[in-house]
Parts: sequence; structure tokens; C-alpha cells
Amino acid sequence: MADVYTNAEKHVVLQNNVKMPLLGLGTSHNGGYNHDAVVHALKNCGYRHIDTAKRYGCESYIAEAIKESGVNRRDIFLATKCWPTDYGSEKTKIAAKGSCGRLGTDYLDLYLLHWPEVPRGHDRKTLINEAWRTLELLYDEGMFRAIGVSNFFEEHLESLLEDCSITPHVNQCEFHPFNNPLELRQMCEENKIQFEGYSPLAKGKVLSSSFVTELSEDIGKTPSQILIRWSIQNNVPTIPKSTKCQRIEENSKVFDFELSDGAMSILNSKHCSLHVAWNPRDPRFDFDIKIAIIFDFELNPDDMELLNSIPSVSNS
Ligand SMILES: NC(=O)c1ccc[n+]([C@@H]2O[C@H](COP(=O)([O-])OP(=O)(O)OC[C@H]3O[C@@H](n4cnc5c(N)ncnc54)[C@H](OP(=O)(O)O)[C@@H]3O)[C@@H](O)[C@H]2O)c1
Repeated sequence: MADVYTNAEKHVVLQNNVKMPLLGLGTSHNGGYNHDAVVHALKNCGYRHIDTAKRYGCESYIAEAIKESGVNRRDIFLATKCWPTDYGSEKTKIAAKGSCGRLGTDYLDLYLLHWPEVPRGHDRKTLINEAWRTLELLYDEGMFRAIGVSNFFEEHLESLLEDCSITPHVNQCEFHPFNNPLELRQMCEENKIQFEGYSPLAKGKVLSSSFVTELSEDIGKTPSQILIRWSIQNNVPTIPKSTKCQRIEENSKVFDFELSDGAMSILNSKHCSLHVAWNPRDPRFDFDIKIAIIFDFELNPDDMELLNSIPSVSNS
């Protein structure tokens, strides 16, 4: 994996020619943070892309892990995110500098607006435009190698594209076979926005799905490797998370096999809009409540029903 930037099968090239590794390491707060696992990923498993966010609360731990791994900062594609309570000209600038400080770096490879929502009492379009304008200015100053958004659906992108000077380089959204938003991906492609996927294992909830376990038995790769490989073969950068060294290593071994056209089309046909992360289109989504309940995420009843309808998955 040390050839991540030279082997064209291991990275995508963003519209501004920056290379983004297809495989990254997720570090969200769900399930906790494990220092040894992040060091192991960098030092022994060849990961050269780390995804984090101010909200995950682990930026300073990641700085320590990078230092301990001995991997050169310049070889790591480091991405973090701005939370909506930090949207606004000055606030966004302070948040970006804060993230850089905690991560022990003076630049970021990718900085994302985390959500297309804003706290109550603000006009969404105005505040998001202000935050985006700040990202554009800091990008021009060289603080970021690429800038983007996260969880932006078609309507959110349309609104931003009306006013932006720099089209987002990346849009990071939930992506696994049971949530494969084709229209959004197409819109991203038409606008040269790299679609990136998160929760590639659907938070571990679909690993026992018979669609996946049957392929796993046929191919001789683990369910997790099948799902990660599916993202990669769709040319979608993906950022599985694990707190366990052994699983981090397992999840990195996805470049020594290919899914057949048949296997790809089976997995490509499983989309059912299952959201294992917050869905900003869900009418029950209340951003201010979600800000308050930082560590709590529960599947909503519709998604629970969808999950239970996938053969062999039991959502215990
Ligand atoms: N932009 C956003 O709004 C957003 C939202 C959600 C996530 N993300 C990013 O995407 C990353 C990944 O998403 P995610 O953490 O939600 O879910 P995920 O990567 O789909 O799944 C993580 C879960 O799967 C388990 N797991 C990992 N590898 C495994 C393996 N080989 N075998 C069995 N179980 C395995 C982990 O448990 P153990 O730790 O016990 O191994 C954990 O419970 C996040 O960490 C974050 O960086 C971004």
C-alpha cells in the first residue's frame, strides 16, 4: 500500500489534480477510539488516508498516532470536517485553524462542511454560503489541498453550486450496497465532484447479510473485504472504521482480488435507501436535538424495518 499515490488502482484524482487514496481509515466517535489501532493502520497496514472531524473529538489523538507511526505527514491524506455550529466567516476560519492545531499540521488535504444543516435561527443558504466562502479563501491561501461537503443531497448541492466560486472537490455521504444513491452520484460526476462513501460496512450491521456471506464464501474473502472492495470497484473512496488492529489489517487487504461483473451487479442491485447514519432528508431529523445528543445514534423505525428485511440480517 505504500504505492498508494503511484498505483492508479489505489487512488482517485480530484478535479484539481490532487490524489486521494481510495482506502482510508474512519475515526468517528461511535465505538470509541483506539490509539494502537490507528498506529497499526499507518505503520503496518499501509493506510495513507485518515478521515476525522472536530466532532469526533480525536484530532489530537490522531496527531499523536501519526507521530508514533513514523509515517511522514506529507504521505498522509488527512481529512477533517467543520461542524455546523462553526459555520460563518470568522467561526469557520477559527474552526479550521483549531483542527489544524489539534492535528499537529499547518495544512489539511481535505476540509469538509460536515452537514447541510444549520442551527435554528439561521438562514441555511446564507450561513452555508458564508462557511463555503471561507473554505474557498483558505483553499486559495494554501491551508487546504481540497475542499468539500458531506451529507449534501441534490438540493443542497444545487443551492451551493448557484453561488460558489469553487465547486466542491468532494461530497462524502453514506455508501454501501444498501444505500447507493445513483442520482446523487451522477450529479456529482456531472459536476466533477468526487463522491466519497462513509459507513461502507453499514456500521457492521450488514456483514451477516446472505447476499454478502454467499459472495464471501464463493470468493474466499471476508464480508468486510467484499463490501470495501465493492466501494473501491465503484471508484468511490471509502473509510471503514475499526478499533481492532486485526480488523484494520483485514480491511486493508482489498487490492489483491476483484469482484466479478456478476458479483458487482448483485451488490449494485441491493439499494433500498437504508440509512445507518443520520439522514438530513428525514422529516424527523432535528438538527438542534442532534447537536445536544452527541454520542447517541439510533436507527429510526423505518430503517430498522429495512435492515430486518435484508435476508439473514438480524439487528440485535
Ligand atoms: N460525514 C459523516 O457524516 C460521517 C458519518 C458517519 C461516518 N463517517 C466516517 O466514516 C467512517 C466509517 O463509518 P462508520 O464508522 O459509521 O461505520 P463502518 O466503517 O461501516 O463500520 C464500523 C463498524 O464495523 C465494525 N467493523 C469494522 N471492521 C470490521 C470487520 N472487518 N469485521 C467485523 N466488523 C468490523 C466496527 O467495530 P470494531 O471497532 O469493534 O471493529 C464498527 O462497529 C467513520 O468512522 C467516519 O470517519 C462520516
